[in-house]
Amino acid sequence: MTKKQYTVTAALPYANGPLHLGHVAGVYLPSDIFVRFLRMNDHDVAFICGSDEHGAAITLRAKKEGTTPKEIVDKYNGIISKAFKDFDISFDIFHRTSAPIHHETAQDFFKVLDEKGHFTKETSEQYYDEEYSQFLADRYITGDCPNCKHENAYGDQCENCGSALSPMDLINPKSTLSGKAPTIKSTSHWYLPMERHEEWLKEWIKEGKLDGVQQHDPSKWRNQVIGQCMSWIDSGLRPRAMTRDLDWGVKVPVEGGDGKVLYVWLDAPIGYISATKQWALDNNKNWEDYWTGDRKLVHFIGKDNIVFHAIIFPILLKAHEGLILPDNVPAYEFLNLEGDKFSTSRNWAVWLHEYIEAYPDKLDELKYVLTSIAPETKDSEFTWKEYQTRINSELADILGNFVNRALVLTQKYYNGVVPPVGEFTDYDHQVLEAMATIPAKISKLVYDYKLREAQAEAMNLARLGNKYLADMEPWKLMKDEANTERVQTIMNIAIQITANLSIVLQPFLPATASKLSEFLNFTSTNWQDAGLCELIEAGHQTNKPTILFPKIEDEQVEKEVGKLKSTEMEESSFDAQKEETTFDDFTKMDIRLGTILEAEKVKKADKLLKLLVDTGLDKRTIISGIAQHYSPEEVIGKTVTVLMNLAPRKIRGVESQGMILMAENEAGELSFVSPEKGFEAGCGVR
Ligand code: MF3
Ligand code: ZN
Repeated sequence: MTKKQYTVTAALPYANGPLHLGHVAGVYLPSDIFVRFLRMNDHDVAFICGSDEHGAAITLRAKKEGTTPKEIVDKYNGIISKAFKDFDISFDIFHRTSAPIHHETAQDFFKVLDEKGHFTKETSEQYYDEEYSQFLADRYITGDCPNCKHENAYGDQCENCGSALSPMDLINPKSTLSGKAPTIKSTSHWYLPMERHEEWLKEWIKEGKLDGVQQHDPSKWRNQVIGQCMSWIDSGLRPRAMTRDLDWGVKVPVEGGDGKVLYVWLDAPIGYISATKQWALDNNKNWEDYWTGDRKLVHFIGKDNIVFHAIIFPILLKAHEGLILPDNVPAYEFLNLEGDKFSTSRNWAVWLHEYIEAYPDKLDELKYVLTSIAPETKDSEFTWKEYQTRINSELADILGNFVNRALVLTQKYYNGVVPPVGEFTDYDHQVLEAMATIPAKISKLVYDYKLREAQAEAMNLARLGNKYLADMEPWKLMKDEANTERVQTIMNIAIQITANLSIVLQPFLPATASKLSEFLNFTSTNWQDAGLCELIEAGHQTNKPTILFPKIEDEQVEKEVGKLKSTEMEESSFDAQKEETTFDDFTKMDIRLGTILEAEKVKKADKLLKLLVDTGLDKRTIISGIAQHYSPEEVIGKTVTVLMNLAPRKIRGVESQGMILMAENEAGELSFVSPEKGFEAGCGVR
């Protein structure tokens, strides 16, 4: 028996930066499609989200921007919530973890667990930054990942292999505040002894059973989710600290908690509950109805959130008692962009709010493309070229073309009045039967969280209609009066298909579906209507259509790709002060002024210039990564600073004998370090 009620959550985005298309494709769009579908099928659903406003991700951003955490979260909560609204993501509430009701809820939750004895209190050695007088938890510390050796793993997690870490796991740890190696100091914290929960977790994840009672169907959980959880459990669950020595966050509400806050991964998921509470208050409902009883809890997340939603939060929910555990945790892989990972620090991203601003009339186009390439089972990639192809050859040529023909011909032949049907041919029957099977196929796919295929199936209805009109060629038949009745039948069927499209497209392309409703002068939001061949009666008046999907021109693609490349920034390595060095080490470097004599671009390398440099001692070739900042013509004749005795390296087949020193600003722009007048090639620098 399927349960009729759902609480659907979408991972709370950190309020430390805007949303990019990777976030949208891998969490917010799929959850929105799922919820829209549920609503059309009469499920009672609450769709919950909000911004995650605590944790080191926020305080570090504030430090970087030279401002306070409060200002950061206000700013990004504003940008994010506006983007969601403009993009028409249909949350019932978009809340904030900085809200007082959240602080209370999280504190109560903590107290309940503490009173029930689910925490242990332990004193332990933790990394500490002497210069900043601060303990270094989570993102305040980086180092090499013990599992995959990735160089910039955080103290709580490796973003490369997804494994959840503790600071002490890192190899070569470094403080992100001072850039220095940390010292060790002792401090006491509340821990969640996760090992106590190993047995039931295994049974629950692998078999979907809790105390022997079937809770969910594990065959519907993605392999990746079960795999990550089991490998985490099998490598041995350990106590995990649930508090931190920080001042930004939810204060620890029990004795001894002064100066400490709740671990952000304890506080944030409780945000789903506090957001539900706020929504219930605003709408005269009981929040408990959404977190207890016969209801399915579904968490849409990215793959880096798996253990937090499928292990840690379930432990907390179960320990609290009386609350439901997730029925599914559909986790998405990552979306890449034009051959590279999305990166906020390098500004390699398409930002949702910028897209909306540039193309306010092409929101469904973006939804369509992102769902078509959604990283459901493996990483996938967004390219502007594919964006163009999918819009032009699928949305415009198939869906747009069919709808336009159906409605324009109805205008032309019958002034928009739907004609009656005559006798059906075998082909008509086939088409109508095929149409009738589509909604059930979509349903099954949506309930299985296969939204990419579900959208493709909805598009198959447009394909069916498009082919039907192309095969029937009513515009040819119309030339002979003997075909009057036949054309009426064809056009009636075309209108019924269009009406069906206005229903089945609703979850995926809501704006397009409402345009179809306007054109048809017909609306149904009931999924059960889909598949019927008599949705619109003969004699019904339809309206004149407009073009649904204008074609995307090559210029737009070129412009967008160009914009990405021109705003890309080098990852800056100068954020923190470097470690102390000795004068002896410094004098080992031979630094001199040199004058650039020749310069040319290196083939197939957009960033490199090949320079011939007069160093006063010799003339040597140096390959320099400055091509995006300087043209060859500009640099000839410049006197610059050269590191002479850097071991020669082959770059793109050419030996580079030294390095040009560059200054870099926050925007990632580069500048030569050049002397005042009167200093020439050959002068030493010290
Ligand atoms: N802010 C986290 C991230 O972006 C997600 C938090 S989800 C929640 O990875 F459940 F903790 F709220
Ligand atoms: Zn790793």
